[in-house]
Amino acid sequence: MESSMSFAGRQIAITGGCSGIGLAVAKTLLALGAIVYVADIAPEVPEYFTSQKNIHVTLRCDITDRQSCQDFLNSIPGRLDGLVNCAGTSGWEGKIGTDEVYRRTMDINVAGTWNMATEALQRMSTQEDIESPGIVPGSVRSVGQGSIVNVGSGASLRGVSGLAAYTASKHAVLGLTRSWARDFPKMRINLVAPGATDTPLAEASIASAPRNDPDVIIGKAQIASIPKGRMAYATDIADAIVFLLSDWSSFITGQCLPVNGGNF
Ligand SMILES: NC(=O)c1ccc[n+]([C@@H]2O[C@H](COP(=O)([O-])OP(=O)(O)OC[C@H]3O[C@@H](n4cnc5c(N)ncnc54)[C@H](O)[C@@H]3O)[C@@H](O)[C@H]2O)c1
Repeated sequence: MESSMSFAGRQIAITGGCSGIGLAVAKTLLALGAIVYVADIAPEVPEYFTSQKNIHVTLRCDITDRQSCQDFLNSIPGRLDGLVNCAGTSGWEGKIGTDEVYRRTMDINVAGTWNMATEALQRMSTQEDIESPGIVPGSVRSVGQGSIVNVGSGASLRGVSGLAAYTASKHAVLGLTRSWARDFPKMRINLVAPGATDTPLAEASIASAPRNDPDVIIGKAQIASIPKGRMAYATDIADAIVFLLSDWSSFITGQCLPVNGGNF
């Protein structure tokens, strides 16, 4: 039976799709029939992609470089149905972080999202506004010109000790999301705000944080306070992102969807 959340023939671009949450989004979309285009600064294609047909990976693509973003999107022929801005960086900064970490964090998380999304918006906002049949006979869904999902964080919504630059960057991504949703009403532009998620990034963040500091929340104490009792799997976050890319979210735009196991 065909999945009622089919992405057959849909073309979706993902930044940071070679690891963690972005990789889980790519795998989910491939399973649902999408044609997936990944841009990542990584030097190697993940093993999983080598057995897949509908995947195109642009390696060593740095989203902080505007031209690289333009070249990546220009490599995608035809309609661009969706974009997931997932590439990001994080790590323990300390109570007074360095200028270097601040600049790098803002550059990747904010300027990178800005670069890829503004290039995509120029293209997607001139695309045909389409509808698809709903699950209820006779109903329709307004797919519009396409969907952009930005990956924020719980730090898009509250302060996080020792992560001021990261928190500022993720608040900024939420601000971009909300403004773009108003500027482009024929599109859907939303943000998913993951809580602690089991990925290489989280592993590195936890490893970089000091031990025995009661203010450090990117560690065991944070995980212990998650009502569901565990970190998210990358697939938990991917499911929410894929929902917001899908026709099932046709009337949702400008929203922040926290996915945190109840740790709001
Ligand atoms: N893991 C968590 O606990 C968590 C929690 C909240 C939010 N997030 C957010 O989720 C997103 C994905 O994180 P993840 O945990 O999957 O991390 P990850 O490190 O597993 O994956 C990030 C990917 O982004 C790529 N990337 C980094 N800088 C890039 C650049 N300049 N240009 C292109 N690609 C680049 C990396 O190569 C990597 O493949 C990030 O935006 C992160 O802030 C993660």
